[in-house]
Amino acid sequence: METRRVYFDNNATTPLHPEVKRVMADAMETFGNPSSLHAYGREARALVEEARKKVAAFIGAEPEEIMFVGSGSEGNNTVLSIVTCQGRPCSIGSFGPRNLVTTKIEHPCILEASKCLAERGFGVTFVDVDSDGKVDLDRLEDAINDRTALVSVMMANNEIGTVQDIKTIARICHDKGALFHTDAVQAVGKVRLDVKELDVDFLTLSGHKIYAPKGIGAVYVRKGAPFCPFIRGGHQERGRRAGTENTIGIAALGKAVELRDLEMDAEGERLRAMKERLKEGIAAAIPDVHFVGHPTDCLAGTLNVSFEGAEGEAILLYLDLAGIAVSTGSACASGSLDPSHVILATGLSPECAHGSIRISMGRENTMEDVDYFLDVLPGVISRIRKMSSAYAGRK
Ligand SMILES: Cc1ncc(COP(=O)(O)O)c(C=O)c1O
Repeated sequence: METRRVYFDNNATTPLHPEVKRVMADAMETFGNPSSLHAYGREARALVEEARKKVAAFIGAEPEEIMFVGSGSEGNNTVLSIVTCQGRPCSIGSFGPRNLVTTKIEHPCILEASKCLAERGFGVTFVDVDSDGKVDLDRLEDAINDRTALVSVMMANNEIGTVQDIKTIARICHDKGALFHTDAVQAVGKVRLDVKELDVDFLTLSGHKIYAPKGIGAVYVRKGAPFCPFIRGGHQERGRRAGTENTIGIAALGKAVELRDLEMDAEGERLRAMKERLKEGIAAAIPDVHFVGHPTDCLAGTLNVSFEGAEGEAILLYLDLAGIAVSTGSACASGSLDPSHVILATGLSPECAHGSIRISMGRENTMEDVDYFLDVLPGVISRIRKMSSAYAGRK
């Protein structure tokens, strides 16, 4: 009998939406360079600008406030780099304050870029979160001073799903005179948002988390916000990002957000019910488990759970044998056996952090997937715990 296959790793990446695939196939025929003045170029330009309008409309921005980039990581690095930018040829001008404030639970592309800034002499503060992964707003406010150029706080965490109160955070930053960026790679297409209502200066999103291909993302840059190009050498994207546009990826992203607009609300309800069933099923069948992440302010399809006396990597491998794909807390740094920095930041012990897995569901998952997972998981955990002398000795 063929093993059932269940993909529960949608926060790592998502399968292409069939309609996005179709748009990509069509876009492959439009091979012109959008910068060319002839008809081939104009056709490609039209495709890019059409997609820009769709992305802008989806997040409440103006088309000229959308800049296409090669990934969420590039978008985040670009925004953080404005801290270093002090003059010509940047629109940022002579930029006095030089500090960055961010949090302990950001994606590695923010954390590593921040550490690099710190090594280069810029002040960087990593603000704590509480046991649910919510940013400590008092500490955030205290960390911002008159030398703070930028604050960057992710909207939804990729490992535990906790969603931050971005509107309040943006207000705190602006009241203290700092610019505010949110990494919304995991939030866009799952949580309804409007950049003007949130009042953010910069926001990053990524295509492959919302059923578009890898290698395409976008940054919202508020009109009038200071900006400094990260990749130079071309006039593309209003001089903000050099490099011939990824026309196929851009067309795909445009279609993906259009589809998200149609599908995300009903899907959110469905995923929420599936997550409830997962939580109840796990808690009823397996002792000594900890759910990590905010109980309500959380992505509908993300569940992070830690099992005492069981290594996340072992759970992942046994589930993989049963055809089920999940990830461990440290998935984004896969290959690394360090406990997840996110789980540690919530105050869970390194042992518990080692025992955590992330289940992230998406548009193709069904309740049958959940039931199959709940059939398989208890056996996997009990097999691993039997091999754990520390756990067996305790019981
Ligand atoms: C919160 C968050 N930010 C940024 C990224 C990086 O996006 P990309 O894979 O497009 O570089 C990811 C990807 O996992 C993410 O989850």
